[in-house]
Amino acid sequence: MLFSFPKTLLLTAALLAAGTSARAQKKALTPAAIEQRITELLGQMTIQEKAGQLTQYSGRELTGPASTRKTDLLNQIRGGQVGSMLNVKGVTDTRAIQAEALKSRLHIPLLFGLDVIHGYQTVFPVPLAEAASWDMAAIRQSAHVAAREAAASGIHWTFAPMVDVGRDPRWGRVMEGAGEDSYLGSQIARARVLGFQGDKLGGTDAVMACAKHFVAYGAAIAGRDYNAVDLSPQQLWEVYLPPFKAAVDAGAATFMNSFNTLNGVPATGSKYLQRDILKGQWQYPGFVVSDWGSIREMVSWGYAQNVSEAAQKAITAGNDMDMENDAYFDALPQLVQQGKVDVALVDDAVRRILRKKFELGLFDDPYKFSDAKREKKVFSDPQHRVAARDVARKSMVLLKNERNTLPLSSPRKIALIGPLAKAKRDLAGGWTVIADTTRIVSALEGIRQRAGKNASVLYAKGCEATGDSRAGFAQAVETARQADVIVLCVGETWDMSGEAKSRADISLPGVQQELFQALKATGKPIVAVVFAGRPLIFNAVADQADAILYAWFPGSEGGHALADVLFGDYNPAGKLPSTFPRLMGQIPLSYQQYSTGRPVVDPQNIRYRSAYIDAPNTPRYAFGHGLSYTTFRYSDLKVSQPRMTAAETVQVSFTLTNTGSRAGEEVVQLYLRDKVASVVRPLKELKDFQKVSLQPGESRTLTFTITRDKLAFYNNDLQWIAEPGEFRLLLGAASDDIRLEADLVLID
Ligand code: GLC
Repeated sequence: MLFSFPKTLLLTAALLAAGTSARAQKKALTPAAIEQRITELLGQMTIQEKAGQLTQYSGRELTGPASTRKTDLLNQIRGGQVGSMLNVKGVTDTRAIQAEALKSRLHIPLLFGLDVIHGYQTVFPVPLAEAASWDMAAIRQSAHVAAREAAASGIHWTFAPMVDVGRDPRWGRVMEGAGEDSYLGSQIARARVLGFQGDKLGGTDAVMACAKHFVAYGAAIAGRDYNAVDLSPQQLWEVYLPPFKAAVDAGAATFMNSFNTLNGVPATGSKYLQRDILKGQWQYPGFVVSDWGSIREMVSWGYAQNVSEAAQKAITAGNDMDMENDAYFDALPQLVQQGKVDVALVDDAVRRILRKKFELGLFDDPYKFSDAKREKKVFSDPQHRVAARDVARKSMVLLKNERNTLPLSSPRKIALIGPLAKAKRDLAGGWTVIADTTRIVSALEGIRQRAGKNASVLYAKGCEATGDSRAGFAQAVETARQADVIVLCVGETWDMSGEAKSRADISLPGVQQELFQALKATGKPIVAVVFAGRPLIFNAVADQADAILYAWFPGSEGGHALADVLFGDYNPAGKLPSTFPRLMGQIPLSYQQYSTGRPVVDPQNIRYRSAYIDAPNTPRYAFGHGLSYTTFRYSDLKVSQPRMTAAETVQVSFTLTNTGSRAGEEVVQLYLRDKVASVVRPLKELKDFQKVSLQPGESRTLTFTITRDKLAFYNNDLQWIAEPGEFRLLLGAASDDIRLEADLVLID
């Protein structure tokens, strides 16, 4: 319970709710009528009420640094001088606080926002894991279930999807994104926005989405969170902006800017990003919220003399709402009065926020999302856990499988070992809302349940996830000796990735690799299961394990999903959305490498070539890598015409055959190389993919369409152009597993 409200307050809220539901029957307002209502409200609002409408506070008793606000938050809400709250959840608390806001002079309802990043009560795999599914329907369903549960619990707005491209695994927030590739990230951004918002805002099974963190937060120097970002214009426009444009095109209701600077200007204070690109070139109708305290942080950056100047720079640059900062509430009225801020900028920001409150239907029925009966019903929907298990299975990536160690075929004794074998909270990963850890299925529970009476599952922890104690090794080895196969669960704990979790060393923490070596010495086959929120470095395991399954942080149904894959009830089809480096020194490392003037042609002869003298250039596991329990053949590549004009399209088709003995899915990836251009182009860029399910022996002809847009890039004048010349089409099962190639010439 967030606030201990007296009974009378709750009764008032209930009576108000009854009254408003009658209003809810009213016909929805047209866009023009909404704008008219907003104009009328703006005409009645004082400048302090306007500044309050641009202000969001955290439910202070719950989370976040204690706000600097001196006055009592409730009085401010009652005075109609708060626009939104975050970190308030549940029907009871949201109703009670909304009732306070409705006592204000103009009865403007509050927006309730929350970080519903990968599930609300039902925890789905962390977003980077879901990206490994390359399954847009599954990803959209995950966001839809999260929205259903959140919207039943009083939430109007989630601060998701995080659409930052992340190419540096030292940065802990890669966990929240969709990996290193802009094209895959754009498809996933769209799926998540549609999943959270549904087809139209206002439904009580949907919430507003928030595309964040605008922009290029994932390129923080040295992978250190909150650090500066320096990018070329091409990298900005080709890699980091497209997923945000995809979110705009999908109708994302809000944006959140980012903590980082971009080429010397804090994103929160960047007119170029927020007014020129987002609200100007992209004609964005929604509103932008700052990230927690990022307005005030412009003083720390040395970009503003004081909070008042920071507020002036932020509102001028196009930041509409101030999250947990007091900057706008305290400074805007005076800045307007002094003529330093044009009130029209304030009115535009207020209009954007009120427009969303109307579109959500909150003026008609401020309590429509806070319905105790619906909250209970939605929370008990068994289909949600079914969906969580399905997405978790689809997210897991089979990195290695020698001698067909997997799937486990009728072992009599399984030794389940490792610091994460019994873990529950860890499997939920970071950014969980109300993860009820008792409802998270551990690996041990999932595997014991699946093994049933057919096999006994022995357990030993072996060691902690961190620390240097080897006291548990002996028992773990003894347990392993009694078994037919070892399943070793290693990785990170849930709080080792996410916000403010940058790591200068992303190897398996603690003595986990030593535990692996001790178990390897028993000679038993070893399956390594890795739980993590980011790519990790684990070379000893990678070299010597018989099989490796990357399970990420799989969520509430993690243990069941893991068992489904290990026992072959589900044939894994995950593909890595991020490159896995061999060594820290290779970072940042993505598949989009350039040829350089001295490419490595023969790895045995790297003298005076672009290479390391102490390591290969290649990653441990490449972007797009992922194995299956079956095999696939790629054949009969056909290109409808070898040459095309910019006005034409070309069909690229080939045959995919399941050459194995069990049904399976394959993510076929289409890459492209522009061989010669006015700016050098990467050796390959992902341009399309298809996820296909085939029965054993089944063949299917798949087709991709090449358009001028797929051949285009930003030249040195930042023009989006396709230059005539030769291109190479590359079709494969991974960025380092190209199966078919063909040439294509653009002739004008
Ligand atoms: C945090 C995060 C942001 C989150 C916000 C509200 O600092 O950067 O992603 O949505 O604050 O919790």
